[in-house]
Amino acid sequence: MTTRMLNIAMIGHGFMGRAHSNAFHQAGHFFDLPYTLRRKVICGRNQQAVAEMAARWGWDETANDWRAVVDRKDIDVIDIGTPNALHAEIAIAAAKAGKIIWCEKPLAMNGPQAAQMAEAAKKVPNLVWFNYRRVPAIALAKQLIDEGKIGQVYQYRAAYLQSWGADPARTGVWRFNKSDAGSGAMGDLLTHIVDLAHFLNGPLSELNALVHTFAPGREVDDAAIFTGRFANGGIGTFEVTRFAIGMKNRNRFEIHGSKGALSFNLEELNHLLYYDATLPADQQGWMDIMVTGPGHPYTANFWPAGHIIGYEHTFIATLADFLTALASGAEFHANFEDGLKVQQVMDAVEKSSETRNWVKL
Ligand SMILES: NC(=O)c1ccc[n+]([C@@H]2O[C@H](COP(=O)([O-])OP(=O)(O)OC[C@H]3O[C@@H](n4cnc5c(N)ncnc54)[C@H](O)[C@@H]3O)[C@@H](O)[C@H]2O)c1
Repeated sequence: MTTRMLNIAMIGHGFMGRAHSNAFHQAGHFFDLPYTLRRKVICGRNQQAVAEMAARWGWDETANDWRAVVDRKDIDVIDIGTPNALHAEIAIAAAKAGKIIWCEKPLAMNGPQAAQMAEAAKKVPNLVWFNYRRVPAIALAKQLIDEGKIGQVYQYRAAYLQSWGADPARTGVWRFNKSDAGSGAMGDLLTHIVDLAHFLNGPLSELNALVHTFAPGREVDDAAIFTGRFANGGIGTFEVTRFAIGMKNRNRFEIHGSKGALSFNLEELNHLLYYDATLPADQQGWMDIMVTGPGHPYTANFWPAGHIIGYEHTFIATLADFLTALASGAEFHANFEDGLKVQQVMDAVEKSSETRNWVKL
């Protein structure tokens, strides 16, 4: 079987540059892909750094000007892994040039900018790297919810807790500059857990938020908390922070429904906890499902049951799903419209905290 070649250009070569490069290498090893991926150009401002990255991860060429890369006729995909402030300009230019666009989260700096991007990208296939949707345990949670296993969802509790920002004196990180990042823990962490809430429990209808900066003089938020109502009648709490000493990357949720409950923690990403409240009372208890197969989402593509996977597999599975959808013409999520919905929640969180009021969505 011959497959069409997609020439990829990646803008940015930091943390996500590595995560994406790895996915571009590995997706075809684990999944039967309808396309062959070519790591054609990697673009960054520092030529020595970008050359080292290209050599290590197998990129054909390097470049320093993303605009020239977007203009190239031989490029099919623009993959955006730069600081947040650049996402809109690059994505809109890429959409005008008719490229497939893969963009890191947060999609944009704010809702109106995300709306411009979603509008521009209507005519081209697009993806936002909300990679946690493809954690097998989270995909299984979605499956169980859709099958009605936990019944009507009453409460959704999500938190994304990190500690790396907790030194108030720390500077020199683009994530602390408002002009580069737009926001702090909100854009970085809250976008992830709001997207997961949309995925698992549907849209929010209103919220009341508290956004806080602990470090004196820091331009962006260090923590944010909100309570909200979902369109399905459930209620939720959301908490994100870079000041949770002891927590490295604890993205967790607990969902309580009329028939049961689910609990997940990214630091134990191969596990989903399930409580079945339809069992006789004397048999009820938390079931620890090791989501490595058989029969669990994505696991047949990776290793035999019990052979655990990691962070990088979430990017591989996201990419494989996108390419499969692209070939069949099926809709892919998370796309720019999903990114826009998340960004609108971020705007509501900011507004609620500033005005100390509930905000409708
Ligand atoms: N999906 C996830 O889980 C996840 C995780 C981490 C970061 N992110 C997102 O990925 C994006 C990048 O974050 P990161 O952690 O990789 O940051 P990083 O600092 O490690 O890398 C950023 C890269 O962008 C490059 N860059 C900056 N300005 C540029 C320009 N004008 N032209 C070309 N390249 C330029 C830098 O040189 C660097 O290589 C951010 O939007 C971030 O929110 C997503």
